[in-house]
Amino acid sequence: MQINLKVRRYDPDAGDGARYQRYSIDMPQNATVLDALIQVREFEDGTLALRCSCRSAICGSCAMRIDHRARLACKTKVADLVDKEGDEITVDPMGNMPVIKDLVTDMDVHWSRVRRVEPFLQPVGPPPEREYLVSNDAMLDLAGVMNCIHCGACVSDCTVLEVDKNFIAPAALAKAYRFVGDPRDGHQHDRLEELSKVAGGIWDCTRCNMCVEVCPKDVRPMDRIMQLREIAVEQGITGNTGARHTNTFASSVRRLGRLDEASMLPGSVGFWNVPRLLSELPGGLRMLRVGKLPWTHALPWHKPIAGIKHVRRIFDRVRAEEKRKKEAAK
Ligand code: SF4
Ligand code: SF4
Ligand code: FES
Repeated sequence: MQINLKVRRYDPDAGDGARYQRYSIDMPQNATVLDALIQVREFEDGTLALRCSCRSAICGSCAMRIDHRARLACKTKVADLVDKEGDEITVDPMGNMPVIKDLVTDMDVHWSRVRRVEPFLQPVGPPPEREYLVSNDAMLDLAGVMNCIHCGACVSDCTVLEVDKNFIAPAALAKAYRFVGDPRDGHQHDRLEELSKVAGGIWDCTRCNMCVEVCPKDVRPMDRIMQLREIAVEQGITGNTGARHTNTFASSVRRLGRLDEASMLPGSVGFWNVPRLLSELPGGLRMLRVGKLPWTHALPWHKPIAGIKHVRRIFDRVRAEEKRKKEAAK
């Protein structure tokens, strides 16, 4: 089959910036994007730089953006991307990382974040005489996270990292869960406290789900971040904007059956945090002016929605279920 590739080229030594280059090659029906790129490099244009090794979705080195989302090139079949002969496949280097050359990116963005979460087991007390024993359930829960091959696809497409360079990013936070969730680790609380208070920690994820969609190993980083949040709150680590925001949101829905926008900012940053509240005042006034801040919801005599008792019943059920689970786990 005829394959048309539009590949992002960039050579820092050439000094002419990035550009797209088109290639047209013949490949078997079952070819992957990596097969096609290697074909180009070997027979059409030896200057094309790309990274790969195992060609079997194991080493994680061939992650790149293919048709505008991060994927492993060796796991992506060309036939799955083109609807008809002549369709073009766009190949870019991963996002959120500096490009070294063509499709090769500097992975330090990923590895520096993994190092930030202290990615090693830290047991306390003397080691056991024979070995650490861990329940099967605990290890099954961690098995999914341990599937991570550090390809960086989730880092590439994380929408928060795009605007906040402090964000620890999905792969490293999933790695943090791998140790927080390990019963042998003795620093669970310290780890969670650090990840809750640090700029760019667990509360900065916006739950856009991109990391879940692009991960080739079903690590589901966003779900791990939500688990970290849950455990942090359970352990009473709530003195931070993220946890307060969640609590204010939930209590607003329980009280009124809807979001009370006016209470979100003071509830999240703290009523006592006057400088921060004052700094947000112009934005709040603009929202009021355009009708985006229904401030009357905050008034004590504002009525909840009809059927609020059903909403509260949901809250009560969830709490009872959580209590039951905790007791069963003891
Ligand atoms: S869900 Fe969170 S961590 Fe995942 S890509 Fe979106 S913002 Fe990033
Ligand atoms: S979590 Fe998934 S996408 Fe992210 S680095 Fe690991 S394997 Fe790659
Ligand atoms: S070459 Fe190893 S994962 Fe693609």
